[in-house]
Amino acid sequence: SDPDPLQDFGIADLQSASSINGFPCKAAPNVTSEDFFFSGLARGGNTNNTFGSSVVQGNVLSFPGLNTLGISMNRVDIAPGGINPPHLHPRATESGVVVRGKLLVGMITSGNVFYSKNLTEGEMFVIPRGLVHFQMNVGNESALILTAFNSHLPGAVVIPFTLFGSRPSVPDEVLTKAFQVDKSVVDGIKSNFGG
Ligand code: GLV
Ligand code: MN
Repeated sequence: SDPDPLQDFGIADLQSASSINGFPCKAAPNVTSEDFFFSGLARGGNTNNTFGSSVVQGNVLSFPGLNTLGISMNRVDIAPGGINPPHLHPRATESGVVVRGKLLVGMITSGNVFYSKNLTEGEMFVIPRGLVHFQMNVGNESALILTAFNSHLPGAVVIPFTLFGSRPSVPDEVLTKAFQVDKSVVDGIKSNFGG
């Protein structure tokens, strides 16, 4: 869903002092083969955390060669019982393929309909742009998913962190009213997410 590029490519100059809608491009004589390759998805991140999952992002910030091309990929590793928690991508539709493991992949539409399916190796899914979704490992081996996006920087709004871990934090009164719970419940959740 990114705008079409105006040239073949434009390797992002992430250090540039100027800011545009996207990133300025590296001067042509400085472009090398290395600019078109990225090894960052070769290894998974650490899944030894409270969610039991890790997302390694291959977006324009980690792989500047993607600048202006309207695509990017992630590597998602999820330990048995772990979850990539509910989140949405404001700027991209996501598709993914399960490389290893057994996962419950689910999403909720803007009309509050929940769609989900258990997927195994080789199976693919799609999450329309902006919809809340998650993947949970329901098998007993570690799971691996490769995801792809139609944006060089899809963004990720992770629901628990957005509402309960923002800086400065969302006032308790907003959250107690929104979720119809007591302040102690809100404070308990906030303490899990640094809010
Ligand atoms: C999975 O949902 C991802 O955003 O990579
Ligand atoms: Mn996602």
